[in-house]
Amino acid sequence: MSHALPFCIVIVEEWLNVMQQPPLVRFEQIAVTYPNGVQALADVSLDIPQHQAVSIVGPSGCGKTTLLRVLAGLEHVSRGRVIVAPETRLAMVFQQGLLFPWMSVADNISYGLMVRGASPQQCRTAAREWCDRMGLQRFIDVYPHQLSGGMQQRVGLARALATNPDILLLDEPFAALDAQTRLLMQELLSDLRAQGLCGTMLFVTHAIDEALIVADRVVVMSSRPGRIITDLTPDFAGGRRADQVRTLPAFHAAFDHIWQQIKTEVSAQMHEGVL
Ligand SMILES: Nc1ncnc2c1ncn2[C@@H]1O[C@H](COP(=O)(O)OP(=O)(O)OP(=O)(O)O)[C@@H](O)[C@H]1O
Ligand SMILES: [Mg+2]
Repeated sequence: MSHALPFCIVIVEEWLNVMQQPPLVRFEQIAVTYPNGVQALADVSLDIPQHQAVSIVGPSGCGKTTLLRVLAGLEHVSRGRVIVAPETRLAMVFQQGLLFPWMSVADNISYGLMVRGASPQQCRTAAREWCDRMGLQRFIDVYPHQLSGGMQQRVGLARALATNPDILLLDEPFAALDAQTRLLMQELLSDLRAQGLCGTMLFVTHAIDEALIVADRVVVMSSRPGRIITDLTPDFAGGRRADQVRTLPAFHAAFDHIWQQIKTEVSAQMHEGVL
């Protein structure tokens, strides 16, 4: 019995280490007030563990973009702090692809790698791999104006993922697309996640179904100043195909639950004449 105790302690310590692994990102009671006096965020606390995909939904103007910009270091917090694990590399995808119009698809995709010193050969190989994954093989040498909106967003996504970021920030990346292309992009993103190609993600959207389909967890924000009012990890999340998730009763229950929360917030804004 005398040697069993240290063994148990080692196991317990290892288990505690796993349990206590710090999150990749921690927002700690942050508030953001812009210089014009608009308070965008109030008291937001959120831990994002490694490899988790988190969707953020909430009424227009509640501070979703502000939250991403704070994490990207583009906005200062007025209160609280943001803790990011050392050496964390971020990449961002916006509503519009924001591609470089003078660069080919291949050069757009490999831009981040080129900036980091990759050779032309490495850049070309990476661009080819990402074009294969994104179904853009035939378009590798064309320019952004020759692409549809959906294709441009695929290039934008590929450009972000080609740098192998630790966390991918997406700000309504599919909002400007037509409904069918949007569904295809949601499935593409789910497939990329299933292949382990985009681990940790912070995904801002207005679409509740999209939030549930692309992420493991959905965080709902109040109207401005944004606070977190619901933090939901549905049990269907993770590892399922988007078209399967849409058919689940639990998906519809989660959708209704989130919509009731947002509706309350938006209705209150309407009554106050803010919307
Ligand atoms: N640079 C800025 N200066 C002043 N006010 C700003 C600035 N950026 C955003 N705001 C205001 O802060 C609030 C939150 O803006 P933010 O863009 O973060 O909201 P959002 O949730 O992303 O909105 P949407 O859903 O419409 O994209 C809004 O009232 C907005 O007008
Ligand atoms: Mg926004």
